[in-house]
Parts: sequence; C-alpha cells; structure tokens
Amino acid sequence: MIAVDRKAAKALHRQIYDAYRTAIVDGGLRPRQRIPSTRVLASEIGVSRFPVLNAYAQLLAEGYFESSVGSGTVVSSTLPEPILSSETIGARLAASGSGPRPAARRSSILPHRESSPWLRGWGAFSVGQVAFDQFPLQIWSSLVARRCRKMDAKSFQYGEQLGSRALRETIASYLRTARSLRCEPEQIMIVSGSQQALEISARVLLDPGNRVWVEEPGYGLARDVFTLGGCHLVPVPVDNEGLEVAAGIKRYRRARAAFVTPSHQFPLGVTMSASRRFQLLEWAQNTGSWIIEDDYDSEYRYESLPIASLQGVDANARVIYIGTLSKVLFPSVRLGYIVIPSDLVDRFIAIRRTVDICPPTFYQEVLTDFINEGHFARHIRRMRVLYRERRSALVDSINKELQSMVEVLGDEAGMHLTVALPHGSRDVEIAEQAARQNLWIWPLSPSYIDEVSRPGFILGFASTPLVEIPRAVLKLRNLLA
Ligand SMILES: Cc1ncc(COP(=O)(O)O)c(C=O)c1O
Repeated sequence: MIAVDRKAAKALHRQIYDAYRTAIVDGGLRPRQRIPSTRVLASEIGVSRFPVLNAYAQLLAEGYFESSVGSGTVVSSTLPEPILSSETIGARLAASGSGPRPAARRSSILPHRESSPWLRGWGAFSVGQVAFDQFPLQIWSSLVARRCRKMDAKSFQYGEQLGSRALRETIASYLRTARSLRCEPEQIMIVSGSQQALEISARVLLDPGNRVWVEEPGYGLARDVFTLGGCHLVPVPVDNEGLEVAAGIKRYRRARAAFVTPSHQFPLGVTMSASRRFQLLEWAQNTGSWIIEDDYDSEYRYESLPIASLQGVDANARVIYIGTLSKVLFPSVRLGYIVIPSDLVDRFIAIRRTVDICPPTFYQEVLTDFINEGHFARHIRRMRVLYRERRSALVDSINKELQSMVEVLGDEAGMHLTVALPHGSRDVEIAEQAARQNLWIWPLSPSYIDEVSRPGFILGFASTPLVEIPRAVLKLRNLLA
C-alpha cells in the first residue's frame, strides 16, 4: 500500500507519512487496524529505517497511530470526529462507482426497510429473542468440541443435498411424535432457517404472476419472498379462528398457494380452528393449490396440548411444512427444515443445488447429538415453564396497568403476544418513542398490506426477565397515556 519514489523531491519520511494519513482519512485503514513494524515496512519498501521511524513518530504524535507494549502499532481507535462521521462514510460509499450501473428490476421492488428503531435493541419485549442466558451453553460447547475432534476427510467435503441423513432421521422421528406429521427422512430437507425454506419453496412452486394468499395481518419476510418471485399477494383476513378461507375464495379462488401460520398466527397469535383447517385443505385439493405451513414456534403452548400440524391431517400431500430451530435453540444457528411432499423432492433438490448446493454439515452433526442425547427435549421443557411464567406475568401486568387501553390477543402459545389499541392510535410513532426508552415493541399496523389496519403492538416476552416485566409495562402505560 505504501509506495515511495526515491527520485521525488518530497522527503521519504513525508511520503510515508502522507500515504498513511491519506489511507486513514479515506477509510482504507480503519481504527484498530494493525500497522507493520518499522523494520518490516522498511524492508518491504526498500528504504532504511530512519524515514520510517520519523513518519511513525509524527503519526503517533498527531493521534493517527497508537501503540502499546506487546500489541505493536495500530490505527488509533479515537480518530478525529470528521474522519468517522456518517458524511465521510457516505461520501466513501457514494464514490464507489460511476457510469451506467444496470441491475435487475426485481432487486429494487422490495420496500427499502431502513432498520426500524424497534429492531435495533436488546431487552424488554424484543420479538423473536430467546432467553439466551438459559441456553445450555456448556453442553452445546462440549458437543461442538467433541464433533470438532472427530472431523475426518469426509467432514471437509460437500454433504448430502437434503442434509445429513442422521439429522433427517432424528427430525422425522421428532416431528412424527411431537407434531403428528406424516413424514420420512427422505422428505426432509435441512435449510438455514425458515427464510431459506420459503425461498426454495417459492422457487419450486410459484411462477411469476401467480397469486398467493397471505394472512392479513401477516409475516413480512414471507411476503417479501413471494413478491420477489414476481407473485401477486392476496391478503386474506384472519379472525379468531385463523385464516378466513371463505374470504380468500371470494377474493381469488385459484391462487397457486396459501402461506399460513396455523399453530400460532403471526402476529395475532390465533390458533387455526379445526373447521378452518379442513376448509383450507379442501380448497387446496379442489383448486390444485399448495399450502405452505410455517410452524415457527409451535413447541410452546400454555393452555392446551400442542395442536397437530396441518400437514398431519392432510390426506392429499398438499402441504409444504416448514420448521425452524430459531425459537427452540437460537436464531443465529440458522437451521430449519422443510417437509416436502414426496413427488416434489427432486424439484426441491434441483433448486437447492443452485442456492447453496447443500447445508453446512458441522452444526447439523452437533444438533443431531444435542437432540439424540436428550438435551433438546430437556431444554424445550425448561423453556416452556420459563416462558409460561413470563407470559403470565406480562398478562397480569397488562391487566393491571393497561386494562382499559388495550386488548390482549394470542397469549396461549409462542414467545410473543399482541395488544390491540383503539382505532386511530399511532402505533408506529409510539414504538419509535419506546425504542428511545429501551422498550422494543413492534407496531402492529405495518403487518397489514391493505390500508385498513389495526394498530397495536407485538410484545416478545421470552427474553424479558420476570422482575423487569412490571417496570416495562409501566413504561408502556406512560407512553400510551
Ligand atoms: C412467522 C415466522 N416464521 C419464521 C420465523 C423464523 O425465521 P427463521 O427460521 O428464518 O429464523 C419467524 C421469526 O420471528 C417468524 O415470526
């Protein structure tokens, strides 16, 4: 990076100083980045050490470099404000290209979601956050270490396209018992979370221009997948029995697929009634449509036994079942699975090959051990107790402090509940204010496609300790007052 010109009029130490200074100001070198020793640099650029020592001394004196015994010289971690300002960074990014820069139209059709304030933080009511401090980390890390020690030549190769056979057997047996699925390991594909499951399923099942029923309100990241695939979304209302199938039929009967979260509707938390399930399956069979069932947090039910999956009662193999480890382990593990109707398995494999060839093998093996050695079932049992307590504390606090202001919805299962506000309430604005007070509530209205939306908040309770719940609810009351 440093080039010196011996014939130039500028002194060598000045050339070295300027080169470093410019690299730091332009962002080529970042705070805490390591700088070569004077000896190494002098030998690399073919000069004596004196000019290098001179230049380094000046950069240290002016605060561009810092050095400490043992860790050598690094770019200063406290650079002057203008060098780190967002305008300087913005200018660096803007300067990165010029001339015509065509890109696929598809890549700009999704709304540009600036990271919403309520997604930025960590703490009370965060949606989708697990009680990470309760995860059996010691056990997990010993399984990781054990698998690591056992790695052989095969472990370094591509794995099976559907995912590891051992894990698929383990998951098939878990799903048959815990979720009443009808499935064999040959139908299971391991993926990196529900999101990849959705992307692969959409590519297999949907053509551009197809209509897809989506729940209204519903899960934005699923909608984005269908929109990106060129499909038209048909919002179908959700009432206290789940998706209103009759309304979907009225709006667009011949939709190619329906995306549903029947165990615990996201975000309203309703469990789909048995009669709606049968109506939905009947519709799919009559019209030759597919049902994509997202069973993202079904392990946690507090008022009744887990409800059987839709896939388990489907006699016509019309359901593509999607599950995730994001809620029962943690989201960063990026593991999930699809249960595929057997006649579609080859198509799923063909699409999967273009996406990522096969899932990474290492954590599949760790997870297989985690499940087979009983830790998974134990962890779910413990979390069920903990989340039930947290949910009850939250409902009690809401009933005490907010009773006349909100209606609680969907608190019978999962890791979040929803509170509906009176029509006209400004949930987005309040959620923005709440985030400034470390309260991470998701507004409900952006979960709707149609103009007419219900205001409210989605409140995660899994990662909020019991003692914090009453305080957090009081804060929410003050925001609503
Ligand atoms: C409806 C729904 N499905 C799935 C997920 C999990 O997605 P993933 O498995 O990609 O982490 C979430 C996460 O909050 C969700 O709300």
